[in-house]
Amino acid sequence: MDKAIIAIDGFAATGKSTLAKRLSNHLGLPYVDSGALFRGITFLAIEKGWITDTNIYEKSIEEGISQLKFNFDSLSNALTLNKRDITNQIRSKLVSSYVSQIAKLPFVRYYLLKQQRQMGSSNGLVMDGRDIGTAVFPEADFKFFFTAKPEVRAQRRWEEMKADGYLLGYNEVLKNILDRDKIDTERKVSPLIKADDAIEIDSTYLSLQQVFEICVAKINGK
Ligand code: DC
Repeated sequence: MDKAIIAIDGFAATGKSTLAKRLSNHLGLPYVDSGALFRGITFLAIEKGWITDTNIYEKSIEEGISQLKFNFDSLSNALTLNKRDITNQIRSKLVSSYVSQIAKLPFVRYYLLKQQRQMGSSNGLVMDGRDIGTAVFPEADFKFFFTAKPEVRAQRRWEEMKADGYLLGYNEVLKNILDRDKIDTERKVSPLIKADDAIEIDSTYLSLQQVFEICVAKINGK
């Protein structure tokens, strides 16, 4: 598929990223995980001491991010920040616990909006996130919006994390997901909301293969 923009939004742990990667393969379009970019800024802010237990130093973050250059490798899904590979670090529990607070800062969203649009400008892409169909690419060729019951999402994420060696309890994962849902849907700037023209998919009782087939059928049917 030539230069198409496919926007995949929805709640945390609904299977967006896995589906987006499969669609990108199937359609021959690059893939970008926009959540990784927000995680990248959060990771840097923690490392630099702009986030502490008691404070988020917004001014320092605003000044510090002005010179950043992100690259998301579509094939390996590696994220580099100023050429440093931070793919693994951005999945840590600490980053997950702060990322929604960083993602609600207007200057962070504005900064990443420009970077995300640039990424899609030459070859099109499949991008997953929270505001791709509403704010980043409102003119996207296809928009999907993913939901699923929180308990099912927590279970899936918990199993994934366990397999990756993270020692977290199910309840902790569920709490993190519910906290993030709340912040993501209630923030002032581009909150998580279904675009009017997005196709909603509730993946609670669907396998990844079923979701994939639904999306491909919608794309082929247009
Ligand atoms: O998809 P994820 O869980 O890696 O995303 C991490 C956080 O980043 C999520 O809690 C909200 C934020 N995010 C966002 O605000 N807008 C996006 N387009 C993608 C992610």
